[in-house]
Amino acid sequence: MAETTTRSGLPKGFRGAEQGWPALHRIPHPPRRLPLVGDVVGASRRTPLQDSMKYARDLGPIFRRNAFGREFVFTWGAALVADLSDESRFAKHVGLGVANLRPVAGDGLFTAYNHEPNWQLAHDVLAPGFSREAMAGYHPMMLAVAERLTEHWDRAAAGGRPVDVPGDMTKLTLETIARTGFGHDFGSFERARPHPFVTAMVGTLTYAQRLNSVPAPLAPLLLRRASRRNTADIAHLDRIVDEVVRIRRAGGPGDGDLLDRMLETAHPETGERLSAENVRRQVITFLVAGHETTSGALSFALHYLSREPGVAARARAEVERVWGDTAAPGYEQVARLRYVRRVLDESLRLWPTAPAYAREATRDTVLGGDHPMRRGAWTLVLTPMLHRDPAVWGADAERFDPDRFDAAAVRSRPAHVFKPFGTGARACIGRQFALHEATLVLGLLLRRYDLTPDPGYRLSVTERLTLMPERLRLYPHRRTPSAVPAARPAGPPSP
Ligand code: HEM
Repeated sequence: MAETTTRSGLPKGFRGAEQGWPALHRIPHPPRRLPLVGDVVGASRRTPLQDSMKYARDLGPIFRRNAFGREFVFTWGAALVADLSDESRFAKHVGLGVANLRPVAGDGLFTAYNHEPNWQLAHDVLAPGFSREAMAGYHPMMLAVAERLTEHWDRAAAGGRPVDVPGDMTKLTLETIARTGFGHDFGSFERARPHPFVTAMVGTLTYAQRLNSVPAPLAPLLLRRASRRNTADIAHLDRIVDEVVRIRRAGGPGDGDLLDRMLETAHPETGERLSAENVRRQVITFLVAGHETTSGALSFALHYLSREPGVAARARAEVERVWGDTAAPGYEQVARLRYVRRVLDESLRLWPTAPAYAREATRDTVLGGDHPMRRGAWTLVLTPMLHRDPAVWGADAERFDPDRFDAAAVRSRPAHVFKPFGTGARACIGRQFALHEATLVLGLLLRRYDLTPDPGYRLSVTERLTLMPERLRLYPHRRTPSAVPAARPAGPPSP
């Protein structure tokens, strides 16, 4: 931990808002603030994001919370977030939850500080792995993994059993990133329980979130057991990743996937390569960032599709029109599913599965013309509230309506109001990957099944830095099986 915390026990990079915001007193905070502990009345350790959403509704577009003497500024009003998107004055801040992930992801792409040379190096080396050509290359493997899912759902449908949506989407997205990026097969669909990689990952994400809910100096004491478990989880992730790398080194290069890039590619200008330790951090980063959030996005979309028969019917009609009866839809045919993509966008609007990102001032400035910030001061952008700002999305912002993303509606809105993938230089590198994978899978599932919800289910969102619909079960029913061909693409290489 020495590398990631300061002597006061705060994550490195943490600056209290008192130091950074000279006019902090003008920013509202919840009533009933208690000495020493701060704004903890009514707060839940398990749902910090949804608590902040409640405060946001009461306190307005910018507010602050105090937890055990640490003061945090939250921003969600569309005009303020647009200002924070100005890359000439603001940049990513590695703080709070993201900084808490440094022990596991180190200077990997997601958790690297802006000044760390490994960020630019890894970004330049890995970005071509997300080009259009690269994506078209991953497509057949994405189809092959989706076929494993549909085999599993076919069995559930035949037995009249419900499926565990978040669990199955996690299997699907982990297998997809593992195979396309690393040529590795975790065998998720052959397991009754989640792969140990997923269990260890959920452990470290939950621990990183919990670290924010206790007074920093007391964390080593209060979270002693949890901290030991976290150390074991990280060691487990390291071991799994080391094995993935060992197999590749022993077997020689793959077909130019992400792991090949990490191991073989020199920077086009400097000739530099990623170190072995950095490769380890990048592999963990991509295996985690590459599946957890996409799994949540697919799960929320399936929840809404099961609840909105009109939307599902329109989406299905589009799939049938664009794909016809082709067994294996091609790369281009996925991009043409415009309405399915809107369903996904609308799900990510209401529940952006990486629900916050932090921005820091890169020089002394005034946010929104109103709030002075010193260089280094930072704020957390609450994306689910930005996506519900009534000034942009209307009084019915809580309503699920994919037509908000038809081209004319998008054009009529100002810039920077939809940010599920973050912003600027540090925005998500895997955006197209996630959108292609999720659109393809929704298309395949819509075409093959009617999805019936459990009538008693009420959406409940679980948090572990990321968001997921808790215990979502759906009943899949095969639609006219003879008319719906099984996807039979070329199989992926299995190590
Ligand atoms: C629906 C799915 C996804 C969502 C909602 C999402 C969201 C985000 C967000 C909000 C950020 C910025 C975080 C910040 O500013 O602190 C980010 C960064 C990142 N994402 Fe994603 N992501 C998704 C899928 C993926 C996939 C599929 C991959 C990889 C295959 C990936 C890899 C990364 C990486 C490496 C970064 C750090 C980029 C950098 O700082 O240079 N993500 N993502």
